[in-house]
Amino acid sequence: MRGKREGTTKHGSSTVTAAIWLLLLPLLVLIVLKTGFLPQVARFRETGGFAKVRDKMVHKVSTLGLDGARWQQQSQDKVKPETAREYNKPHQMLATNAKDTSLINADVAAPISKLTCNFSNIHSDICTMEGDLRIHGKSASVYVVSASTFRPENSTVTVQPYTRKWEKQTMSRIREVTMRSMPPAPYSFTIPPRCTVRHDVPAVVFSTGGCGSNFFHAMSDLVVPLYITSHEYNGRVQLLVTDYQPKWIAKFRPILATLSMYPVIDLDADTAVRCFPSAHVGLESHRMLGIDPGLSRNGYTMMGFRDFLRSALSLQRPWTAPVSRSSGRKPRLVMVLRRHSRAITNEADVVTSMVDLGFEVVAAGPEDVSDMRRFAGVVNSCDAMVGVHGAGLTNMVFLPHNATVMQIIPWGDMKVACRYDFGDPVPDMGLRYAEYEVTAEETTLNDKYPRDHPVFTDPASLHRQGKLWEIFLQGQNVTLDIGRFRGVMQQVYRSITTE
Ligand SMILES: *[C@@H]1O[C@H](CO)[C@@H](O)[C@H](O)[C@H]1NC(C)=O
Ligand SMILES: *[C@@H]1O[C@H](CO)[C@@H](O)[C@H](O)[C@H]1NC(C)=O
Ligand SMILES: *[C@@H]1O[C@H](CO)[C@@H](O)[C@H](O)[C@H]1NC(C)=O
Ligand SMILES: *[C@@H]1O[C@H](CO)[C@@H](O)[C@H](O)[C@H]1NC(C)=O
Repeated sequence: MRGKREGTTKHGSSTVTAAIWLLLLPLLVLIVLKTGFLPQVARFRETGGFAKVRDKMVHKVSTLGLDGARWQQQSQDKVKPETAREYNKPHQMLATNAKDTSLINADVAAPISKLTCNFSNIHSDICTMEGDLRIHGKSASVYVVSASTFRPENSTVTVQPYTRKWEKQTMSRIREVTMRSMPPAPYSFTIPPRCTVRHDVPAVVFSTGGCGSNFFHAMSDLVVPLYITSHEYNGRVQLLVTDYQPKWIAKFRPILATLSMYPVIDLDADTAVRCFPSAHVGLESHRMLGIDPGLSRNGYTMMGFRDFLRSALSLQRPWTAPVSRSSGRKPRLVMVLRRHSRAITNEADVVTSMVDLGFEVVAAGPEDVSDMRRFAGVVNSCDAMVGVHGAGLTNMVFLPHNATVMQIIPWGDMKVACRYDFGDPVPDMGLRYAEYEVTAEETTLNDKYPRDHPVFTDPASLHRQGKLWEIFLQGQNVTLDIGRFRGVMQQVYRSITTE
């Protein structure tokens, strides 16, 4: 800009100046283009140059008297959306970048970005941001350019975008994503990487590294939080996944494709620098397999979430209605059967007694359950679900509203833990809950432990020793007392049928 103006003055030397500027300008642009590439910035940092520049910057900030109060003031200024949009136009980019480098005499550029993080949620740390955001997946970096929220002390903020923050072991598998804030020019000494791809929709960054193949965790840790965080964009949102698990993505593709109309991006493998007008890093999570409408910006509910799933998977039945016994029709009961632990040893007898009671029984083993899309349709055709505590019960999300879930609680003082995962979430889903607690007579732990062992006399003491999983979840099968179980299921049958 300055070059052009000088070039039009009428002094004799002006032609020479103009010529020099004409030569210099492309060079300058070239430098900006070159230094704009991220690997160079990274290399700069490795040599210690970055730290030096940063120290200088902090120094400069303090000598300019830009104390905390000033930054505070700036951060309170609202970002004008128009500014952000303007800035994202390609032709504006170079000009602004060039300004970043010509620190001397540059005007103070208006801050255009804003970063807000919340570290006080027990499930997940979340950062939301808007303005000029540049995501470089390979280095898991999000550049927040010209940020009104910039603070020297937290110019970098890291988040592990998974929703089990309290679980050290799980979180150790989750990659850190770093938000790198830059102050508005001329205080910024670093040049953000140049955009190579532009998106005009928000970004949502999360990790699939935590849940493995466990369906409960897939739903509770990821799908529900994803719904809370990204459903409001009606598909106009880009999902970026770190710790990308192809199997997970493939399994949940119909759901992901309903949340976002764009293919999911494998963040860790992505060498592009993608620019977004806004972004979420980390997913909002409220509770196990649940949504707190009061905490959700949009007042989302689990009923709404289940309607969303029904539409994503083309399920037919929104509601179940009581079945008339005299009509000859039978209520459908899906039995979710386990194989390696918490299996029902007298499965066949249990199925027979349920058929006797008047149910049409769908017995589903792990091989049936693993095909989510198919099994969701089976579940949706049923009026009730029964199973021993375990991830398979998570398929209750596909039941029609007002259906009944019966959880069989294994031996070992497990009521509270079982209710936490699969009991408490049920009413909010618009389902009805029943449970059957296995007695000491019905567990195969009898084969391993005498009746005076703490396994029977004081199970809670073993929980405290950290043996809950090993002994009570992995270590037992159950042999249901057919008479007692039938009695409890008869009440369920009565409640979902009419004369
Ligand atoms: C940066 O630190 C300040 C306090 O020093 C805090 O109020 C603010 O929330 C932090 N910002 C981020 C993005 O973490
Ligand atoms: C941060 O999250 C907590 C817990 O979810 C919530 O209570 C609080 O209101 C949030 N803070 C802000 C500033 O949004
Ligand atoms: C439970 O039963 C299955 C067979 O159905 C068996 O393979 C497994 O070892 C049993 N587990 C326990 C803890 O008894
Ligand atoms: C839900 O099911 C119960 C029992 O079958 C029935 O009494 C009730 O009317 C149903 N509610 C709705 C909204 O259909």
